[in-house]
Amino acid sequence: MADLKVHFAGMELKNPLMLASATPGWDGQRLKEAGQAGFGAVISKSISPRDAWLEHPRNGRMVLYRVGNKPVGMINMELFTTQTKDEWFNKEFAIAKEGGAKICASILAMPDPEITAEIVEEVQETGLVDFFEMNVSCPMPSKGVGMHIGKNAKTLYEQIKAVKSVAKIPVMAKFTPGVSDIVEAANAAVEGGVDAIAISNTVRSFAGVDIETGRPILRSYGGYSGPAIKPITMALLAETARSVDIPISAVGGVSSWQDVVEYIMLGATTVQLATSVMWKGLGLVQEILDGLAAYMDEKGYKSIEDFRGKALPYITTVEELCQEPALKAEINQDLCTNCGRCHRACFYDGVKWDEDHTWIDQDNCDGCGLCAQWCPKEAITLK
Ligand SMILES: Cc1cc2nc3c(=O)[nH]c(=O)nc-3n(C[C@H](O)[C@H](O)[C@H](O)COP(=O)(O)O)c2cc1C
Repeated sequence: MADLKVHFAGMELKNPLMLASATPGWDGQRLKEAGQAGFGAVISKSISPRDAWLEHPRNGRMVLYRVGNKPVGMINMELFTTQTKDEWFNKEFAIAKEGGAKICASILAMPDPEITAEIVEEVQETGLVDFFEMNVSCPMPSKGVGMHIGKNAKTLYEQIKAVKSVAKIPVMAKFTPGVSDIVEAANAAVEGGVDAIAISNTVRSFAGVDIETGRPILRSYGGYSGPAIKPITMALLAETARSVDIPISAVGGVSSWQDVVEYIMLGATTVQLATSVMWKGLGLVQEILDGLAAYMDEKGYKSIEDFRGKALPYITTVEELCQEPALKAEINQDLCTNCGRCHRACFYDGVKWDEDHTWIDQDNCDGCGLCAQWCPKEAITLK
């Protein structure tokens, strides 16, 4: 039977799943329920020391982004926790703990690192929290907080250094996908002494325009989350995992056990969920855990470590791929239905089409593979 336990930043978690810092963790009761639903760890909404930031827009702040009718992502303009820090310290974390999961306090990094460190000290005095996540990544806040700290390797380092000088429990830094060089940021975080990195927060975005009225759908900028951001997260994760030897918690677009496996194969030790829990409810957690365990049993993986990072050695640079032999498309005529999609997708005149059949012009084929991607019958392969 697969063992889902993981060791992460000096802690043992019963499984790799974490509730990400978001609406489903806005108070202790919600965190408790998430713990009971099976998460290995639960992370609070980001706590900020400024009471002025306890508000968030209540005139609509979340919009599903759809392609056709299918939601592929979500834009939100939610700010931080709406509970005061005293409420968290005196009540909410104690309730959260009853859920049985490890408890993480998400702390919004403040412009002055000493203030961030002060709130970290205050939280750890409660004795109710197992680790910290430093939010240096939120896409909305005013200049000097959130992603504005995390985008700059120097300010990121200073924050981590200050927090690590007081923290007695593990500290994870949550990165922004808006960083210009994730490896530089990761190195700065490691130098500052961070125990783990979370990759990453939402992508700064705009919800769109109602073309009947000409009005914006949300009147400010938000963070983009959900399935659409997964390829962005995967690139940042792989790049980081190949460059630094530090535990990584992957977060962005996870909604199935297959997503979890993919992130672990790209080097993550733990995997966080936010949007998918908001869309599908807490029942999703057990569904993912069951799927993960069944997959591991089928593959003969006894622990998460057996396949963690498995994909990483095969990732290379585009420049190196240019040196490899060119491949050409081939069509299996038994499977081809002559639908013409591959022909329309080919701009090299490599896919020929007439009313009776489709064929490849080997001289023209440029080996891009788009025809194979579009084929609904998997009739085309690159060889
Ligand atoms: C409604 C909403 C609120 C969020 N609030 C926070 C927050 O307070 N602190 C934080 O670090 N991240 C916050 N996030 C970002 C998530 O933790 C996560 O990084 C992001 O949504 C990508 O994961 P997902 O695709 O699974 O949602 C929020 C996300 C959503 C959707």
